[in-house]
Amino acid sequence: MSWPPESPSGLIGAEIAGYRVERELGRGGMAVVYCAKDLRLGRTVALKLLAPEYTRNDAFRRRFAQESRVAAAIDHPHIVPVFEAGEADGILYIAMRFVSGLDLRALLDREGPLPVPAALRIAAQLASALDAAHARGLVHRDVKPGNVLVAKGIDSDHPEHVYLADFGLAKKSLSLTGFTSAGEFVGTLDYVAPERITGRPVDGRSDQYSLACVVHETLAGAPPFRCADHLELLWAHQYAPPPALSAERPGIPGEADEALRRALAKVADDRYDTCLDFVGALRDAVAAVGLRRRTSTLVDMRVRAGRAEPGPDRDAGRSEVPEPPAWAGPVLRSPR
Ligand SMILES: Nc1ncnc2c1ncn2[C@@H]1O[C@H](COP(=O)(O)OP(=O)(O)OP(=O)(O)O)[C@@H](O)[C@H]1O
Ligand SMILES: [Mg+2]
Repeated sequence: MSWPPESPSGLIGAEIAGYRVERELGRGGMAVVYCAKDLRLGRTVALKLLAPEYTRNDAFRRRFAQESRVAAAIDHPHIVPVFEAGEADGILYIAMRFVSGLDLRALLDREGPLPVPAALRIAAQLASALDAAHARGLVHRDVKPGNVLVAKGIDSDHPEHVYLADFGLAKKSLSLTGFTSAGEFVGTLDYVAPERITGRPVDGRSDQYSLACVVHETLAGAPPFRCADHLELLWAHQYAPPPALSAERPGIPGEADEALRRALAKVADDRYDTCLDFVGALRDAVAAVGLRRRTSTLVDMRVRAGRAEPGPDRDAGRSEVPEPPAWAGPVLRSPR
């Protein structure tokens, strides 16, 4: 099999490990993801095929096999279920639930910053997924909008359902992550925790840092550190104080800055213990000035009932309207 498939149609119709490839869903630095049919069960799956350079890397293969097992064992409403992972014709593959919707990267590119309640709902769903993984000793290492899949929710109280993808697929070190043998950079450093840059040990709090970068972007339209130059960006993650979110997103109170600052602390010990602690603190800060209303999720946000007053946000009155919010429209209009 030639790699990467030169045109999106390169593998269409091919059968790989019992899956028939139907169409390409997207591609990243290390893989191409296809919509495929599981020929044994007749169900539609997302089939991710990893580039052969990873198959050749023994350390990566071992970790891929081990972490795929751990990831497949996590049964959580906000983690993409993994059905199977293996190797066929020298290609590592992973078959997972096909999520009909958009990834958060595409959504942000299309919509810009999200309404505050929507951003908080998404943050809470991601936080609960990450905390569940961390409780099992699994660190994602690559929390970023491209790995967040946004699907239609179950009702108007839950307008979107968010899945975190790619557990077990993050590369262990940045040298393996980002730079090709030709020295070109692929991927993004926008969300990477300082300890990953310096090679210090990572744990769940590294994911919390990345989540905070994503949350900042969903509210402000861009991640906290923006530098054209990679080295400058690495320096900023390690040493530069993050910008105040309240200065970049009208309506966000100064109190919220403290929650972001803490989750973005340079030293993991200075961050929150859990991702939900971070998102809960952020939501409390926003609620304190009345922005919080109808941000209920499947997650217990540990916020006392009845504390917040409805506030002047773009979703005002939404609870009585069975339609999804306007920003979720594109997700629903373009099912894949
Ligand atoms: N389970 C899934 N269901 C539907 N679409 C998916 C699924 N998994 C991935 N995709 C789509 O495929 C795209 C490519 O995914 P992939 O993981 O290869 O790249 P990425 O996460 O953007 O970048 P990277 O190479 O850094 O991981 C995603 O952005 C998403 O749009
Ligand atoms: Mg991905």
